[in-house]
Amino acid sequence: MPQIESPKTYPTSYRVKSFGCQMNVYDGERMAELLGSQGLTAAPDGVDADLVVLNTCHIREKAAEKVYSDIGRLKREDGTSPLIAVAGCVAQAEGEEIMARAPSVKMVVGPQAYHRLPEMVREAAAGRRSTDTDMPAETKFGHLPARRRSGPSAFLTVQEGCDKFCTYCVVPYTRGAEVSRPHADLIVEARRLVDGGAREITLLGQNVNAWTGEDAKGRLVGLDGLIRDLAAIADLARIRYTTSHPNDMTAGLIEAHASEAKLMPFLHLPVQSGSDRVLKAMNRSHTAESYLRILEQVRAARPDLALSGDFIVGFPGETEAEFEETLRLVEAVGYAQCFSFKYSPRPGTPAATMDGQVAPEVMDERLQRLQGALNVTQLAFNRASLGRSCDVLVERRGKLPGQWLGKSPWLQSVHFTGEAAIGDLVRVDLVDAGPNSLSGRLALQVAA
Ligand code: 5AD
Ligand code: SF4
Repeated sequence: MPQIESPKTYPTSYRVKSFGCQMNVYDGERMAELLGSQGLTAAPDGVDADLVVLNTCHIREKAAEKVYSDIGRLKREDGTSPLIAVAGCVAQAEGEEIMARAPSVKMVVGPQAYHRLPEMVREAAAGRRSTDTDMPAETKFGHLPARRRSGPSAFLTVQEGCDKFCTYCVVPYTRGAEVSRPHADLIVEARRLVDGGAREITLLGQNVNAWTGEDAKGRLVGLDGLIRDLAAIADLARIRYTTSHPNDMTAGLIEAHASEAKLMPFLHLPVQSGSDRVLKAMNRSHTAESYLRILEQVRAARPDLALSGDFIVGFPGETEAEFEETLRLVEAVGYAQCFSFKYSPRPGTPAATMDGQVAPEVMDERLQRLQGALNVTQLAFNRASLGRSCDVLVERRGKLPGQWLGKSPWLQSVHFTGEAAIGDLVRVDLVDAGPNSLSGRLALQVAA
């Protein structure tokens, strides 16, 4: 069927749809701000937008197929499409192919190039298609508009890229080498987020604990130094960071968990597998034992620390006995929450061509058992909170009248009813627990 071209006019409304990790959510917010600064307005839910940005994720399977089906769904009844931009990691990895296969896509823009969106939109409005998947030395951040508004809990990307080259992972190819954003820029952006309403900031990076930079006095500092300087922002109440690699848990960062009150007692530290043979094949450069030792140290620094992790089941060659080592590690750690995935071969990564690819039904069965074990530890962690009270940062209204939803210091979702407002830090008595959330009653208001 012949493709009906979109009208050649500059768009007035946009929608950014982000998939995947929190860094994509951050990028999506920055793209929205950028388009807003060009005079476009966000299309409300359910309303057709002139420009749609699909901010894609490539970490696991079927990413590209999903993009093509999303593109198909954007087609209107009259056969036209909005101006479509494909952004994010699928754009970076498969941009040329997308341009060839999907004529309704007018822009392909990689994660390091989206500051060029306004220019690309102008080109697209004039009927010209463009691709930018460059990874320029000069970063996009200096070209983005200043941040104005924020919800109570904001993301701040401090580091991008990864040099670790785990054998299953596309990130080093799609996001490039590790780059730390300058300390001064981060302090400015954090202040703006706080002025715009943020009470909590989560520092993001593919390998966030590899962040380094020069502080205001010219000293080379690590993530702990950045956390301390951010903690000096008076109205900022909470700091978190994710995702970390076990090998970059420095003594300074561990100590910050003991001494920095605004740093929340939560650590997302992926281990991926409990088997040393599998970890070696994954090129993780840590063992199950060295991982457990790090956890011991962080727990010694912060005894109430909640732990989270990522797991992959069915990595090539994983035997039943090796999978059981993962189950044993899960029991030993007592995670508060976790993400677990079936191994997905990523084109261009070393593991994709390794011998011993595990059958899908074996992966399904292992994932179910792992998730069952994780549910048990999560529920135990949440139940252990019952009878206590904790501070909850109110993020939004709940589904029921008078109900609010927020997060505990340990990143548990807590719902409660009572007098509150979005952005308040309130004291809540915890009365009921499920594997994924807690419910509570408002106790007394602490300083907001
Ligand atoms: N298959 C399955 N899971 C993966 N992850 C990364 N690459 C793959 C893959 N090819 C998981 C890891 C990582 C998380 C972000 O996604 O667990 O920590
Ligand atoms: Fe991927 Fe490993 Fe880097 Fe994490 S540390 S982004 S899993 S290569």
